[in-house]
Amino acid sequence: MIVDVGGRDTTALRAALTVADTVLIPCQPRSFDIWALEGMAALVVEARLINPAMTALSMLNRADPGGLGGDNRDAAAALKQIEGIGYLDAPIANRKAWPNAAARGRGILDATRGDAKAKAELEASLRGIYDVQRSGIQTHASAS
Ligand SMILES: Nc1ncnc2c1ncn2[C@@H]1O[C@H](COP(=O)(O)OP(=O)(O)OP(=O)(O)O)[C@@H](O)[C@H]1O
Ligand SMILES: [Mg+2]
Repeated sequence: MIVDVGGRDTTALRAALTVADTVLIPCQPRSFDIWALEGMAALVVEARLINPAMTALSMLNRADPGGLGGDNRDAAAALKQIEGIGYLDAPIANRKAWPNAAARGRGILDATRGDAKAKAELEASLRGIYDVQRSGIQTHASAS
């Protein structure tokens, strides 16, 4: 089961953290978004008191297309530093395919005229999440 809780400190987020196997925290490669992750990390650490087996992973979404340079690289380095949250090295770039697919009521994986790069990035991140779950890494996990 997947619970989409939004990115704010809500009752729904805290409730989900008490029972989740894995919490996935997408983050844009921008300073404000990265700073917000510190607050999230504190919630994760607190939730582990009652849900010690929870895996927590951050990843880049809306990364700058064109690979891991510039802001993407700096953001990835900052995310890796955050205690209690592992970094999933499978960035999803900012691509117009995402809103275009949504506007047609399609997902990226099943979009008929889907963007191959967006699809490949999503598939790589899904593989990364499953790999981490299988390997049983709990904290400070790095899928990279
Ligand atoms: N990788 C991406 N490339 C391009 N656009 C994206 C990407 N990811 C998300 N978006 C766009 O950003 C907007 C917000 O996305 P989404 O609703 O998933 O964000 P959210 O963080 O879950 O927001 P909320 O906090 O409101 O739940 C949407 O218009 C979506 O199409
Ligand atoms: Mg949302």
